Amino acid sequence: MCGIVAYVGHREACPIIIKGLKRLEYRGYDSAGVALMNGALNIYKKKGKVADLEAAISEEDTHGHIGMGHTRWATHGEPNDENAHPHYSTSKGIAIIHNGIIENYASLKQLLIQKGHTFHSETDSEVFINLIEDIFQNNDCSLPEAVRLAMHEVVGAYAIVVLSKESPNQLIAARKGSPLVVGVGKGEYFLASDATPIIEYTNEVVYLNDYELAVIKDGELDIRTKEDVKQTPYVQTLEMALESIEKGGYEHFMLKEIFEQPRSILDSMRGRMIAESDHLMMSGIREYENKFVNAKRIIIVACGTSWHAGLVAEYLIEDFARIPVEVEYASEFRYRNPIITEDDIVVAISQSGETADTLAAIELAKSKGATIFGICNVVGSSIARATDAGAYTHAGPEIGVASTKAFTAQVTVLALIAMIIGSKRGTLEETKLRQLMVELETIPAKVEKCLLLDDQIKEISAKYKDATNFIYLGRGYNYPVALEGALKLKEISYIHAEGYPAAEMKHGPIALIDEQMPVVVIATKDSSYEKVVSNVQEVRARKGKVIAVVTEGDTTIPSMADYVIEIPETSEHLMPLLSVIPLQLLSYHIAVMRGCNVDQPRNLAKSVTVE
Ligand code: F6R
Repeated sequence: MCGIVAYVGHREACPIIIKGLKRLEYRGYDSAGVALMNGALNIYKKKGKVADLEAAISEEDTHGHIGMGHTRWATHGEPNDENAHPHYSTSKGIAIIHNGIIENYASLKQLLIQKGHTFHSETDSEVFINLIEDIFQNNDCSLPEAVRLAMHEVVGAYAIVVLSKESPNQLIAARKGSPLVVGVGKGEYFLASDATPIIEYTNEVVYLNDYELAVIKDGELDIRTKEDVKQTPYVQTLEMALESIEKGGYEHFMLKEIFEQPRSILDSMRGRMIAESDHLMMSGIREYENKFVNAKRIIIVACGTSWHAGLVAEYLIEDFARIPVEVEYASEFRYRNPIITEDDIVVAISQSGETADTLAAIELAKSKGATIFGICNVVGSSIARATDAGAYTHAGPEIGVASTKAFTAQVTVLALIAMIIGSKRGTLEETKLRQLMVELETIPAKVEKCLLLDDQIKEISAKYKDATNFIYLGRGYNYPVALEGALKLKEISYIHAEGYPAAEMKHGPIALIDEQMPVVVIATKDSSYEKVVSNVQEVRARKGKVIAVVTEGDTTIPSMADYVIEIPETSEHLMPLLSVIPLQLLSYHIAVMRGCNVDQPRNLAKSVTVE
């Protein structure tokens, strides 16, 4: 979703901001703009890509050492030049960039219009900057003070940066509900919605907390709460490497990230499990071990791909630890008055750690006294900070909008958690646990083998790239994988796809099957294999085209399927880590062949920071 970059220091601000906006493109956006202090407070903005904005300002004098930039993902008002950020206040003396949504913008706007403020866009952000100006003009206060007072008036979520003509060396920033990171360089400061635009300049960062206001002026960073209590900035050193946010020779980030999975899975278990020495430990749950062991129920909240990882976890935790698990869409959970008690553990799964619905679900569960455990990929993210405890997935930055390596990293961490709790509760026998640990260690090498299928999957993709519908079927541990395969295809190739538990097909979707319908069936050797074979027969009998993902050496399914993709054998509990790989590659190649923008699919955002 929207991206923020701002800079103040000794370098030229504009190139840093433009480059930073390009680094944030992966978040999804439809217009971009910059405000620069170059003699005056100038704003340049445009519908379309950052490259369009760059071309539009190429003739302008953009020299200056302070400025801010924004990529906008439309919420209030269509994507056009007027609605793009930054926005001036009525006097044009101050300007704002804003991520998030101001819920009471309509009433504030009415009030401000009555007071003589004028508006040029349909955005809630323009209301915010005029509110700040109104407070500044009508109270005897400084601009930072006016921003602080405005924070008490607005309802909703925001990360903002404010620039003023009167204080040409000052950046003011504030957050509530939308992320904002301050990069601390030598005699320079950066602000951004995540660390990706910052790390090539400095790895020292400060994550602003909700309701904090940061003022950067004359080389000083001053952070205060909205009650005006001074805070000591907590400077963290990030370990993110620049290569991790570049394509490194791959055509797309998504392909790079698919191919990174042997490493990202390994990194997700590194230090947590060594089968040979029976080492199985996760520092994140150590303190809450008793809570987990005695939990009456575990509720998993997540969205999208992370929700699919949660479904895999339901099978894992119930199998190994025998604790009932409920997997909830965070967006439904937060609004349906769920029954939550102090004995519940709520596990929130999120790659970005910024998903608004998941964050709200956490707050709700917290208010009812549940223990909250987070599984996030982005270090220092809002969800990681809102939870009582948690575990990072260590997949490294995921830039492609379609989640790939984050999913397998989440499943890896969840498998470890299920094994730990199962072992502590005595519901997972020691020999079984050892076997699982040994097997989990072989997964990175087996993923490597799955990746060798790339050329074969490319050929299958060429065959079906023009299909208008797809069905994905799986049972047991492969049912969430079927959902995930269908989601990947929808997201990046815009082909309608449905994932189903294979046996559900007869209860409706089978009506869709004819000779035009490609059906991807995950039919690996596991406890439901024979049943899935019958489901494949049912598809064949209706002339559907079967693309089957099977275990190496399978001799039954090949005689029934149009295409067979063989993946290595593993325990059925860990199979999602392998069976998802061909589905990721299939959606990738189909999208490329259809000429789609794989890394930035239409309408999608990487961090969904609005509900
Ligand atoms: C799918 C995808 C989305 C996200 C969802 C949750 O490829 O990227 O469905 O999985 O928006 O995002 P996080 O995990 O960041 O909470």
